[in-house]
Amino acid sequence: MVKVTIVGATGNVGMFAAHAISSIPHIDEILLHGRPGREALLMGITQDLMDSFAARGTDIRVTWTTDLHDAAGSDIVVILAGVPRKAGQDRLDLALENARIVAPIAETIGKVAPDTKLFVVTNPVDVMTSVALRFSMLKPHQVFGLGTHLDSMRLKALIASYFHVHVSEVHTRIIGEHGDSLVPLWSATTIGGIKISNLPEFSHLPVKDFIESVKCSGHRIIQNKGSTVYGPGEAIATLVRTILLDENRILTVSAFIHREVHCIGNICIGVPARVNRQGVFPITIRLDESEVIAFRDSVEKIRASTDSVIKT
Ligand code: 2OP
Repeated sequence: MVKVTIVGATGNVGMFAAHAISSIPHIDEILLHGRPGREALLMGITQDLMDSFAARGTDIRVTWTTDLHDAAGSDIVVILAGVPRKAGQDRLDLALENARIVAPIAETIGKVAPDTKLFVVTNPVDVMTSVALRFSMLKPHQVFGLGTHLDSMRLKALIASYFHVHVSEVHTRIIGEHGDSLVPLWSATTIGGIKISNLPEFSHLPVKDFIESVKCSGHRIIQNKGSTVYGPGEAIATLVRTILLDENRILTVSAFIHREVHCIGNICIGVPARVNRQGVFPITIRLDESEVIAFRDSVEKIRASTDSVIKT
């Protein structure tokens, strides 16, 4: 029996993520969790999802609860609970307030579902992933965050559009903070398997504009429509699918690193990791000199914020 629990399911991303996740084969139950007082909304979301499943011929069972203990037996628990970012606000501004929300959730999930994979989306996601790891007491490979996977997808789309190629022909990665200190890996970017730096267009590629666009994407969407929904929702479903179907993909997620990236460690941050049924395993990589410098800066920025909310 495959069960996915979504904690914070009453927000826009949670609702859409539940629907996106329901397209993954072999899921038996999706449990929607919301805080007490949200019972009517949870019932409404449940019924609306069940209607969509009837139309699609999906026989997943959708249940709802305001009691985290019902997450027992979950294969994956997705945490979206927290205060969302407002237009113009930096994700790190939410660190203390959202740590107070995520910590008790992680503590309970660690007790009632000790074998689960704990997937954090709440921002600032790198800091919240460390909070979830610390308070759940789960193993590092069981706890991860959405990290810079969505940023990487945003850059991928920009490059595909610029070169007029199908998005599947572009492979790129952004590591580091899911935020302003993110680090694009041009050394690991290919188009049709060809290193982007080997293409004549690379010399006049608007690299700075691309990165600025990725950094501001979330802000722009929030300004125009209030919140980002479809991007994070589909990114969440991709990671849930990769785990449940044991796909062994290398995705860029927020994970706890020891020494995999130039011996920089003891922090949760966006890095390339092998993702499968067992969880998330950062891979050892070598970066270009400029990338290492930028990554170290990003790590120190996240470490400062993480230390400020996790009292040792
Ligand atoms: C975003 O950039 C939710 O932080 C996420 O859309």
